[in-house]
Amino acid sequence: MLDTSEKTTELGVFLPVGNGGWITSTTSPQLPATYDYNKQVAILAEEMGFDFALAMAKWRGYGGPSKHWDITLESMTAMAGIAEATSRIGVWGTVHTMVFHPAVVAKMTAVIDQISKGRFGLNIVSGSNPSDQGQMGLWMDLDHAERYELAEEWLTVLKRLWTEERVDHKGKHYELIDCMSNPKPSVQPPIICAGASDRGFLFTMEHCTGSFMLGSDHDDFIKTGLRAKELAAQQGKPGFKTYGLFTIVPGATDAEARERVAYYDSGVDTIALDNQTREYSGDKSFKQNTMAQRFVSQGESRNSMTRAALVGSSETIGRKLAEIVKGAQLDGVTVIVPDFIDDLRTVGTEVVEVLAQNGVMTNAYTHQKAAQ
Ligand SMILES: Cc1cc2nc3c(=O)[nH]c(=O)nc-3n(C[C@H](O)[C@H](O)[C@H](O)COP(=O)(O)O)c2cc1C
Repeated sequence: MLDTSEKTTELGVFLPVGNGGWITSTTSPQLPATYDYNKQVAILAEEMGFDFALAMAKWRGYGGPSKHWDITLESMTAMAGIAEATSRIGVWGTVHTMVFHPAVVAKMTAVIDQISKGRFGLNIVSGSNPSDQGQMGLWMDLDHAERYELAEEWLTVLKRLWTEERVDHKGKHYELIDCMSNPKPSVQPPIICAGASDRGFLFTMEHCTGSFMLGSDHDDFIKTGLRAKELAAQQGKPGFKTYGLFTIVPGATDAEARERVAYYDSGVDTIALDNQTREYSGDKSFKQNTMAQRFVSQGESRNSMTRAALVGSSETIGRKLAEIVKGAQLDGVTVIVPDFIDDLRTVGTEVVEVLAQNGVMTNAYTHQKAAQ
């Protein structure tokens, strides 16, 4: 069993760059998805000692009365701004491989590397929703495995442009002739992917430095996390990092937190959920597409948010989260909350304290103690 006493678990915030955050409801906090709001969240996270702020990439909303995700900030430009507005926290942006040419991303990342002074990280998405990128004609008619093949070529080109003076490449999807890309990033940015299928995970393990992962419940999280660590050890990649994504709904008591979820469920936006289901069901590789299956099942169950959410008092959440972090040997935790100011503050103060009491140390906790 891993000795967690000497390890620091990274803590990150999944920035609400889409309106409404991750709750599809008219009765949940109607987060605005403005740059100013997200900047405020990132600065708060930095002040509390969080390690990274991550922005997703999403191009199309789901409508309905909540207009869920009808407004989304573009990820890389938002993180460039946030890089300038912060000084310590890691700034992680997301690209869809089908949307940007790798040579464009090589330059974008090098610029954000300069703005952030080496704090940038890249989340790569091979694509799971045909309508999202299809609405602008950028969805390619590839099956799930082919999308990861494209991502492999894409990342090979990107890494070469980051390190080589001139690149010649003739592949299936990209052709570069004596391609120059300067400036180079000052450090090779961490590259993360959330590929959860076997194919997606293999891609992530081979080509990235870390993996984002989800669990449908406590046991599933532990199983998924341990499988990743075992595979990493087998493949001689002991430094490979795993980051769990957790939706956290805190309350003064467990009952109060459960009431919050019930209240958000009372306003569940079934029209937006149906639109989401329809879009994801359109993938010809639906059977292999684990994200599509998750969203469709949430839509069918008519829940406003994932049932894997950690709901309760800070004590309850901290205890359960510590069990998963230790059991799954996670290197990091990425947090979603209903309200990214008050609830994030609860996570960054109370929950990290309970985590520490249960053997999970975070920089946020150390930071808090040093300030007292
Ligand atoms: C933390 C996290 C962040 C993600 N970010 C995005 C994103 O920004 N845009 C997107 O389209 N998909 C995003 N995804 C979905 C994944 O990229 C991926 O499609 C999904 O996990 C399914 O894996 P699979 O392709 O191997 O089936 C994210 C998933 C997780 C868990």
